[in-house]
Amino acid sequence: MSANQPQQAQPRARWSLRQRLVALVLALLATVATVIGVASTLALRSSLVDRLDAEVSAAADRSLSYFTRWPLPGGNRGVDIPGQAAGTVTLATDGSVGVAWHITDTGGRAALDDEQRDVLLDLPLDGAVHTARLGSLGEYRVTAVAGDGVVTVAGLSLTEVAATTQQHIATTAAVTLAGLLIVGLAGTWLVRRELRPLERVAGTAARVAATPMARGAVVLADRVPEADTDPGTEVGRVGAALNQLLSHVEDALAARHRSETQVRQFVADASHELRTPLASIRGYAELVRRLDRGPEDVPPDVVRAMDRVESEARRMTSLVEDLLLLARLDAGRPISRGPVDLASLAADLVADAHVAGPDHAWRLEVPETADDVVVTGDDGALRQVLANLLSNARLHTPAGTTVTTSVTSSGSGGSGSVTIAVRDDGPGIDPELVGRLFDRFARGDAARSPGTGTGLGLSIAKAVVDAHGGTIAADGTPGATTITVTLPVAGPAPRPPDEGDPTA
Ligand SMILES: Nc1ncnc2c1ncn2[C@@H]1O[C@H](COP(=O)(O)OP(=O)(O)OP(=O)(O)O)[C@@H](O)[C@H]1O
Ligand SMILES: [Mg+2]
Repeated sequence: MSANQPQQAQPRARWSLRQRLVALVLALLATVATVIGVASTLALRSSLVDRLDAEVSAAADRSLSYFTRWPLPGGNRGVDIPGQAAGTVTLATDGSVGVAWHITDTGGRAALDDEQRDVLLDLPLDGAVHTARLGSLGEYRVTAVAGDGVVTVAGLSLTEVAATTQQHIATTAAVTLAGLLIVGLAGTWLVRRELRPLERVAGTAARVAATPMARGAVVLADRVPEADTDPGTEVGRVGAALNQLLSHVEDALAARHRSETQVRQFVADASHELRTPLASIRGYAELVRRLDRGPEDVPPDVVRAMDRVESEARRMTSLVEDLLLLARLDAGRPISRGPVDLASLAADLVADAHVAGPDHAWRLEVPETADDVVVTGDDGALRQVLANLLSNARLHTPAGTTVTTSVTSSGSGGSGSVTIAVRDDGPGIDPELVGRLFDRFARGDAARSPGTGTGLGLSIAKAVVDAHGGTIAADGTPGATTITVTLPVAGPAPRPPDEGDPTA
């Protein structure tokens, strides 16, 4: 596929490989950190609650022994139960009388309200520790024990457990975020470093892909550096394979160039060799014509035959000249570079066309100032381009056709260009020729257009225009058939001839 061909529209990847690799590592790390964080938080909380539960059970035992020694209501004298920590909730009841308080941070006692009391009274006597919400006091671990007709309940706040757990979560999250940041930065750097060989291989491939290979001798000197062709690594294998591919392509292109050169050589040699015998044939035919001094001298049939021989020899000479010219242009022979005034060139050739085709109307439109329409190029070759276009307009259209040749300039200075357009109001170009009009030996139906020649005229025009760095286009609309040639003012980029140019 050539680089100019429209590629299938492919959505651009939103993320580069580097970004994806870093993102994957970060995602994995975040997942692992989350799992560790959740597991450690659960373990921490459960061990803290276990310890709290042991303290709650101990406090309940202390309360029970206090209230069995100092039965209610005597027990409710305001004496502190020894060993109870601040925040401890205590409730005792013997079925009729009951007390309930909670030890404040300063060591005093604060009575519980009815709602809190009801929560504690509802506790089952199963010896287990339960979680209960005690209104404004928050969540508590509480347990109920019974003995000697007294039921006591003791409880300790979960606030500290919650605070410790929260602290743990915050620390874990902060450490995880810091870790992700470090891994993100270091990962980006490391992945970039690791992918550098791949970038070098891709760079080589891109440079080679940009080398024009369509024709001529192609030099593919670019190779993946030795260091990136280690078959022990994935990138190295790609690099080595690319180098091998490049060698193969180089060999194939060299072979193609060799056979191209051979064919060109053959065409050039054959054309060259044919010139001399053709000149002889023309010369002898002409001689016979000159010898014919009267009606008796040479029989009229022979004169007619010799006329045909002469005109066919002339036709063949021009064909051979065309072939030789094409072979030379194909070989990339640098064309001569000189100033060519396209306005006066067009004036000359339109004047010639007048003589050759007196039945056609010939018009010329050139700008007043000729300065703008001077291009750099080969005068002879450009003359042939316009001559081919004008002869087409003469030979492929009926008598009475108007042919307009116009020369216009666009742009200015070195970047400007000059356009020559040859337009005729004839029958238009054979639609069957669309797409291959500029191909060699592409010609219209002889029945349709009596002037049909060998079909080399437009291909020569295109080859010359290409060599000048210009463009040629055709519009075959009947009534407005136009061939447009655009040439850069600056002329062709100097191009070295192919090595071993056979036509030199
Ligand atoms: N102005 C035109 N009007 C109609 N048909 C045209 C015109 N110019 C070119 N063509 C068609 O394009 C074909 C190719 O033109 P081209 O000049 O390459 O070959 P040719 O004129 O047939 O032969 P040659 O120029 O080699 O003697 C012609 O055979 C003709 O059918
Ligand atoms: Mg022609």
